[in-house]
Amino acid sequence: MYIVPKLEDFSASALDAAARDLKSALQSESAAIASEADWKVLRDRWMARKNGVLTLLNDQWLKAAPTPAKREVGQRVNEVKKIVEEQIDAALARVSSTVSASRLEQERVDITLPGNRRKLGIEHPLIRTMNEIVGVFKAMGYSVAEGPEVETDYYNFESLNFPPNHPARDTQDTLMIKGQQGKPLRERLLLRTHTSPVQIRAMEKQPPPIRIVVPGRVHRADTADATHSPIFHQVEGLAVDTNITFCDLKGTLDQAAKAMFGSSVRTRFYPSFFPFTEPSADMQISCFKCGGSGRLKGERCGMCKASGWIEILGSGMVDPNVYGFVDYDPKKYSGFAFGMGVERIAILKYGIDDIQLFYQGDVRFLRQFA
Ligand code: PHE
Repeated sequence: MYIVPKLEDFSASALDAAARDLKSALQSESAAIASEADWKVLRDRWMARKNGVLTLLNDQWLKAAPTPAKREVGQRVNEVKKIVEEQIDAALARVSSTVSASRLEQERVDITLPGNRRKLGIEHPLIRTMNEIVGVFKAMGYSVAEGPEVETDYYNFESLNFPPNHPARDTQDTLMIKGQQGKPLRERLLLRTHTSPVQIRAMEKQPPPIRIVVPGRVHRADTADATHSPIFHQVEGLAVDTNITFCDLKGTLDQAAKAMFGSSVRTRFYPSFFPFTEPSADMQISCFKCGGSGRLKGERCGMCKASGWIEILGSGMVDPNVYGFVDYDPKKYSGFAFGMGVERIAILKYGIDDIQLFYQGDVRFLRQFA
């Protein structure tokens, strides 16, 4: 093991010889280490503040040198210091790479083992139904529009021809946003009660012709039970062009009903009322369970409550008053609109007896749609 010699001779050749001895000792000591623990011992021996080789060099070579030799000796000591630091660093790199190579060896991975497969989730049955409805209309050339769930009174009511204080507003069980009393009525915020405001928003943005479907979430102050939920979903539709008639409304919605419930369903239109359509009609489909007879194996059909018909949407020809709010010329253009509840359609399609099942996230329910 290297021991720092006391120097008597400070000549250049004597310094060279001393430095050579030190370097070869460093070389062999650092070559001998095989682990990080060995390396720490090596580092401390050479570099520790107290009694490390470098500290001793300072004391025994530099401080001991006579004044005229100090400069020369100082340079040597600095050179040697640099070499020692480099060698010690290199020694660490060497042992740690061999250590990690052997660690890799131990932690070998068998890439031929089968992986952990995670099951893919599924589209929620409501979203699936909503997408199916939208898809039926997309196939007929409609594009998709959306709008905000927090709406103004203007879009949810006024522009849809519900005048202030009109009793038709009462049918909508509106949830108002609080603290709006200071604003003019039309600016007050509420949770939209239907997707119809998007009709107005879309017509404001583009001139006719327009053909859109609007999927979205709506809100009403209903108490939750097996058939009601304060939050539910609708798909709205709007078509405005020249020469659109009630015949187009019937043909389009009949086609959609067949695409959604099967080609053997029949449709009928039943007078109804909405402020923004005139005339208005609810569409009913023949019961797909009993074929419209109202009876199933001699018993009354529960699906249609023995009536043979099931109501699935509201519709009508766009009321000319509505065009006045969006700068469409009612003399040039006509159109129809419709709106349907997604939950209701999913309940019918899948035979679900409680609307709350859609919102509970119970995998035993959801798994059945996988
Ligand atoms: N917005 C109406 C509702 O929610 C449905 C509807 C839409 C009726 C479009 C006619 C035309 O009850």
